[in-house]
Amino acid sequence: MKKEIKKILVTGALGQIGSELVMELRRRYGNNNVVASDIRPNPPKRIAESGPYEVVDVTKADNIRQVIIKYDIDTIFHMAAILSGVGEKDPQLCWNVNMNGTMNVLDLGVKFELARVIVPSSMAVWGRGIPKENVPQDSVLRPTSMYGVTKVAGERLCDYYVYRYGLDCRGLRYPGIISHETLPGGGTTDYAVEIFYEAVKNKKYTCFLKEDTMLPMMYMPDCIKATINLAEADFNNLVHHSDFNVAAFSFTPGQLADEIRKFIPDFEITYKPDFRQAIADSWPYSIDDSCARREWGWQPSFDIYSMTKDMIEKLTEKHKKGLI
Ligand code: NAD
Ligand code: SER
Repeated sequence: MKKEIKKILVTGALGQIGSELVMELRRRYGNNNVVASDIRPNPPKRIAESGPYEVVDVTKADNIRQVIIKYDIDTIFHMAAILSGVGEKDPQLCWNVNMNGTMNVLDLGVKFELARVIVPSSMAVWGRGIPKENVPQDSVLRPTSMYGVTKVAGERLCDYYVYRYGLDCRGLRYPGIISHETLPGGGTTDYAVEIFYEAVKNKKYTCFLKEDTMLPMMYMPDCIKATINLAEADFNNLVHHSDFNVAAFSFTPGQLADEIRKFIPDFEITYKPDFRQAIADSWPYSIDDSCARREWGWQPSFDIYSMTKDMIEKLTEKHKKGLI
């Protein structure tokens, strides 16, 4: 069994998280040691020109197998997935990509004796019957979305591979992730990204969630830090494996609008809830991440104020250059 992380494959590398994870992994492990992959054939310049890129459909095990062999891969960060909003529109696609894709990655992890497989989970694992405030690590998992169903099953599957085959598989339950590099791929927390683009461009936004919908969120630099810190943690310190709660801060759309007004005073928000309101209503307000803090030293760096300031600065620069 390989142990060290040396040659990495990132699936779903053109997505909101994958596109930033690849760049940070390349900075740490060397450009040629991080193979970016996605089902889409046209990577943006910064990914295409900074290291290897392959088209990989994770539902096709042979696609993944060929890349593992070609680059002698020892670690997979499996970011390919269908998120909650798209998943509710096409539940079968969501099941196929999230479940069969994950199963393929895990099976190949065992076959090629990989050092590490990282499979993200989500706060979407929660649903009915949870305490909404500070939902604990080990709580009931009764999701109401297909996305959430696949995330619960994915966690259980990953833990099964740890115990049954000794595969070193790890995962985190991300809250909503906020970023300015790549737009999100169709989730319920996308509003918390869109709102910044619209605030900077047009000073107004129509939100698809209600004003008082409290959800846990995290800024992308903390998401990348959490992912890599967990991947690099000492296996012997881990009691949990595939289902770590991680948290940074929580807010409602109304509170985020107030925060944005500290920088753009005439920003206006209106509310027009759609089908994603029901998904958001099934998720917790906040998350207890004490196990992650204890087992691998998790600690977020950004709060809502520093995240908002940085988002507005970065997107204002892009807007001035005509990039958004
Ligand atoms: P995203 O939707 O932005 O990106 C997913 C990527 O997967 C896309 O680039 C897409 O082209 C690719 N993809 C789709 N089907 C594929 C297939 N069959 N084969 C290969 N690639 C395929 O998602 P993201 O936000 O970057 O999420 C990454 C991971 O983090 C997912 O597991 C997601 O569930 C989890 N997560 C994300 C958030 C968030 O707020 N972004 C929150 C919780 C959990
Ligand atoms: N941001 C994700 C979504 O809304 C949470 O997993 O689907």
